[in-house]
Amino acid sequence: MTATATRPLNVTEAIESRRSIRKYVQEPMNQDDLREILRLASLAPSAWNAQTWRFAVVQDPAVKAQLQEAAYGQGQVTNAPAVIVVYSDMEDTLQTVEDTAHPGMGDAGRTGQRTTFDNVFGHQDVAQRGQWGLSQANIAFGFLMLAARGLDYDTVPMLGFQPDKVKAILGLPEHVQFAGLLPIGKRAEDGFPHHRHSVERLTTFY
Ligand SMILES: Cc1cc2nc3c(=O)[nH]c(=O)nc-3n(C[C@H](O)[C@H](O)[C@H](O)COP(=O)(O)O)c2cc1C
Repeated sequence: MTATATRPLNVTEAIESRRSIRKYVQEPMNQDDLREILRLASLAPSAWNAQTWRFAVVQDPAVKAQLQEAAYGQGQVTNAPAVIVVYSDMEDTLQTVEDTAHPGMGDAGRTGQRTTFDNVFGHQDVAQRGQWGLSQANIAFGFLMLAARGLDYDTVPMLGFQPDKVKAILGLPEHVQFAGLLPIGKRAEDGFPHHRHSVERLTTFY
């Protein structure tokens, strides 16, 4: 299924047509589209608007090859024109937390944001608050996949890699936590049809 869709897809179309794609058309990413997908993902919500997610975009073939090695040789890493590495950096979030207060709240909002975060996270260790940061970054990871699909791009979320190796390749600090790697491009295969639990299996109505 390499035919292009009329874009932007609506939300239902994007969700229905997203599937993991591991073979891509061999052409570079349109850089404007790439930025727009990242911008849309940045609109994800987060608790206290903390925006713990960070993106590393890898398009250099040599760096992609290193990522592939860190990902147990999984071919989609080099087959895709770009790989977006999504991680949370809770320490950067805490250091710059005033920036996440809404400007409409003024100086009081900035001070309040600092107080809130110091109270909640000040007594937690780096790993514990890093886990909280990751729970926020995972929301952006989901948004990123659907934003890509909405602009007729395809992706495959990946957690099959060695985090320490990816940190070393990208020069990321030890404390960051990964939502995942996301190879992205135009599909050159159909992927698998959805196979999911029924709503009844998953849901209890009260
Ligand atoms: C967090 C996460 C990690 C995943 N890791 C990998 C991976 O390392 N390699 C891979 O080929 N697929 C990976 N997948 C893709 C899943 O196998 C796939 O999403 C699932 O089978 C459902 O298929 P679909 O995405 O086509 O709907 C991952 C998916 C998620 C959400």
